[in-house]
Amino acid sequence: MSPAISLTSSTRMSDSLSEIQYQKGVKHLHENGIDKVPNKYILPITERPSTGNESHFKENIKLPVIDFAELQGPTRSRVLKALTKACEQYGFFQVVNHGISTDIIHRMTEVCKRFFELPFDERLKYMSTDMKAPVRYGTSFSQNKDGVYCWRDFLKLVCHPMPDHFLSQWPSSPKDLRTQAATYSKETRNLFMMLMEAILESLGLCTSELNFTEEKEILEEFQEGSQIVVANCYPPCPEPELTLGMPPHSDYGFLTLLLQDEVKGLQIQFEEKWLTVEPIPNAFVINIGDHLEIFSNGRYRSVLHRVLVNQEKTRVTVASLHSLPFDRVIQPSPKLISKNNPRRYLDTDFATFLEYISSCEPKTKAFLESRKLN
Ligand code: OGA
Ligand code: NI
Repeated sequence: MSPAISLTSSTRMSDSLSEIQYQKGVKHLHENGIDKVPNKYILPITERPSTGNESHFKENIKLPVIDFAELQGPTRSRVLKALTKACEQYGFFQVVNHGISTDIIHRMTEVCKRFFELPFDERLKYMSTDMKAPVRYGTSFSQNKDGVYCWRDFLKLVCHPMPDHFLSQWPSSPKDLRTQAATYSKETRNLFMMLMEAILESLGLCTSELNFTEEKEILEEFQEGSQIVVANCYPPCPEPELTLGMPPHSDYGFLTLLLQDEVKGLQIQFEEKWLTVEPIPNAFVINIGDHLEIFSNGRYRSVLHRVLVNQEKTRVTVASLHSLPFDRVIQPSPKLISKNNPRRYLDTDFATFLEYISSCEPKTKAFLESRKLN
């Protein structure tokens, strides 16, 4: 990225902050009461969230809502059609009546909030730039690579597969974090499995009775698959129009299950426009990741999304990212390839992805693009 140019003529006091201050994250900056965004966070004009002075939250989108209880009942085929349409059109939908209790949801968001409120030194213990660490606290998007930083701190937990020694590396404070996160990841993994089954069925790859060994095998592989839970914290930002909580990106896996609190921030790209997702309390926002786009040979779309920040409220979200086992090669399902619909993507795996994102600034859908066949 090119160096950002400050729009204001007044001196940015906070620019005297050292690089070390930025490495401490945005919660730290917010707590130190800055009233201007340091240059490190100012995006080049063309990448800022809004042009002109209209509110950049203006255009909202009501994502298709999938009633999970209905999906499990006699109306399954109708709901599957709605699911297909949502995956093709938006790459996003919301799920209600998903069966995960509001208690579990609230306790998870709440314990994450308490983690971000811990004294900085406590959070620092988990700071790591090792992409494969079982626990990783950090700031921005890709702390080592980002030329301009994002207004976001995060806590990343590898939840599956999970050898015993991983749990002992998860934060020991707040005291209930490990149990809450373990419960939460188990519940979201079950939900992911049921959603994945529905999605395979919607692609014509799986019947609800699971008569075929082949289909059973795919689901068994997902059972062994990877899960990473990421808690994101977006503290109030003095100049939200100059920066982003997360830059435009697509998610790498099959599905992401996102829990957002009541504060708006998530935007998805639809027909060249950025639209703000209206939060539904206790619902999950589900989106198709790169692996599912590849697996479906382009039928289901992994859509760009980004995060806006605001001046008033801290926003905390919890994303659960799911895919096949880390070492598994992802490729278009042979059943979705035909003479009329030839293979559109190269094989890929997690190692290739890691290599890719650590070699460049992760921007837009560059990784997915790099896997496309012409
Ligand atoms: C993500 C993501 C959106 C949000 O974690 O990949 O897109 O609103 N999060 O936090
Ligand atoms: Ni995302």
